[in-house]
Amino acid sequence: MRPYSVRPAASLKGRVSLPGDKSIACRAVIIGSISKGRVVIENFPLSKDCLSAINVFRNLGVRIRQKNIHRNKLRRALITILAKGLRSLCPSGNAIFCGESGTTLRLSLGVLAGQAFKATLAAGASLSQRPMRRVTGPLRLMGANIQAAKHKTPAGNREEYPPITIKGGALKAITYEMPVASAQVKSAIILAGLYAKGRTRVIEPVPTRDHTERMLKLFKAGIKTAKGVITINGGRELVPPKKIYIPGDISSAGFFMVLAAILPDAKIRIEKVSLNPSRTGIVRILRRMGADMRVIRYPPAAGDFEPMGDIIVRSSNLCGTVVKKEEIPSLIDELPILMVAACFANGKTVLRCVEELRVKETDRINSMVTNLAKMGAKIKVVKSAGCEDIVIEGQSLLYGAKVKSFGDHRTAMSMIIAGLKADGKTALDDISCIDKSFPDFMDILHSLVR
Ligand code: S3P
Repeated sequence: MRPYSVRPAASLKGRVSLPGDKSIACRAVIIGSISKGRVVIENFPLSKDCLSAINVFRNLGVRIRQKNIHRNKLRRALITILAKGLRSLCPSGNAIFCGESGTTLRLSLGVLAGQAFKATLAAGASLSQRPMRRVTGPLRLMGANIQAAKHKTPAGNREEYPPITIKGGALKAITYEMPVASAQVKSAIILAGLYAKGRTRVIEPVPTRDHTERMLKLFKAGIKTAKGVITINGGRELVPPKKIYIPGDISSAGFFMVLAAILPDAKIRIEKVSLNPSRTGIVRILRRMGADMRVIRYPPAAGDFEPMGDIIVRSSNLCGTVVKKEEIPSLIDELPILMVAACFANGKTVLRCVEELRVKETDRINSMVTNLAKMGAKIKVVKSAGCEDIVIEGQSLLYGAKVKSFGDHRTAMSMIIAGLKADGKTALDDISCIDKSFPDFMDILHSLVR
């Protein structure tokens, strides 16, 4: 347990470049490991989730070298993968531990569905409570043999959980219409599609982050994307680029964007951050709320597969907004910090259909509503026809209180930001969970807070 107390900050000033994006970094390890050749990954984050991705593929026999770099108080790594092709993975004698990384576990299942050997993926306490049927279902349709832990959800539905044992092999291509908007599920099917006979199609009713598609194009896979349909041709070896630079994590940047917007006399510049449109929902919504933000896009350079740029944020007077259902996937991980922003905005904010938050690292509807209500926020959940909306009546003051991280990194960081703008002391029970995505969060925060 690492307790932490926050006192109000006067302002936020400075510039920062952040460690690489967690989603992109996990994919670089996974896709790099099944390509044929050598690939160097720069600006790789030393977050626990990304190290879990490395652990899984080392256990599957891939040579992965890690050189840690500690510069300007920031830790990151240079990763070199020496990979031998789509069918070069080897069975591991033991269950392979995915830690708490849902991206690692779900995407690795897609890869393992294509292997002719048996593998077991195990997970930490929180990930072992997260639903897996959304992935095991379509992979079984493709021909994978899968056993998972099973129990009933509170709503009485049968669900599957880690540990998961999978034996793949001769996969057949499928056309799969996604019932939930999930980039992890989409990616698992696409990766399995690399091994399937024929053309696998995934139909996405609402767009989700497209890092897998972009990276597979970079690795010259037979992948096409058009109007919500992703098509992948199986059997083709992946050709790695020499080098991949992982742009800064926009989800990590979100905490500093909101803090700069709500504190007085603030100005920060976040450099080399990912500007992938499937992830920049937080920028669009904060701007709609009146945030003073400037985005400077870098001109595309050879070898770029993800757009990148700088974001400058200044103190702003935020006002409430309505975030629609179809906007949610582009800022799914930023909803906790957006709830904090909404507490300090003028007027009402409604976040529509956010029920996916119930199955993240913790139930983030519960964690955020409980914590913010303790600090005096006017926040409630409104249920209607299968949807859960969060309604926040903005006000200018929150009060310090004893709050909990619920073991969730994004709840912990969001509550620290809320505490920096609240009146009095905010005490968090445990912030060790932050290491899951952003081990340098506290150091960077201290370097910017005035
Ligand atoms: C992720 C997708 C999202 C997101 C998670 C990372 C990814 O999950 O919440 O933090 O890397 O593909 P879902 O696919 O479950 O929405």
